[in-house]
Amino acid sequence: MEEGLVERPAAPLRERRDLLARILNLGLVGALAAACGTFAAYAARFLYPARPARRAWTYVARLDQIAAGKSLRWTAPTGQTINVTRLGAGASAADFIALSSVCPHLGCQVHWEAHHDRYFCPCHNGTFGPEGQPTGGPPKEGNTPLPRYPLEVRGQLVFIEVPTDALVARPGRTRTV
Ligand code: FES
Repeated sequence: MEEGLVERPAAPLRERRDLLARILNLGLVGALAAACGTFAAYAARFLYPARPARRAWTYVARLDQIAAGKSLRWTAPTGQTINVTRLGAGASAADFIALSSVCPHLGCQVHWEAHHDRYFCPCHNGTFGPEGQPTGGPPKEGNTPLPRYPLEVRGQLVFIEVPTDALVARPGRTRTV
């Protein structure tokens, strides 16, 4: 090559370099957009923090509808299924307990067995004590109790407190077990 002359890359080589530069530019623009999006999401969460789930006291049954030692399967307006069990013979909230009927292992329905003083999950023989503590099967291995709902007795009526988000306008349903 003669001195003073700069060799220009061949046309195909220049095209490849241009293409590579365009790809790099697009990548940079994409990364910048993703960073801005992440920042905006964090800023929105900081400015508008998630509010706690709304809950409401909901009528379940009259006292005389749940005999001592019996349990009632109640479906909340939002769809949760709850076992309301009368453990004592009295008429105060201490004589009742409201526990989710959904097994924390794989989601089967547990039911109250008064003669064994326990809740039983037929799917994998999971068992729970009267207060929902795991006593056998996979729930005991995972130490996963049945979630408990606050309960009140007002006069002759039983109420429990349930989440109301995504409320579907239909009354709660009951089934005595
Ligand atoms: S689903 Fe209840 S023990 Fe497995």
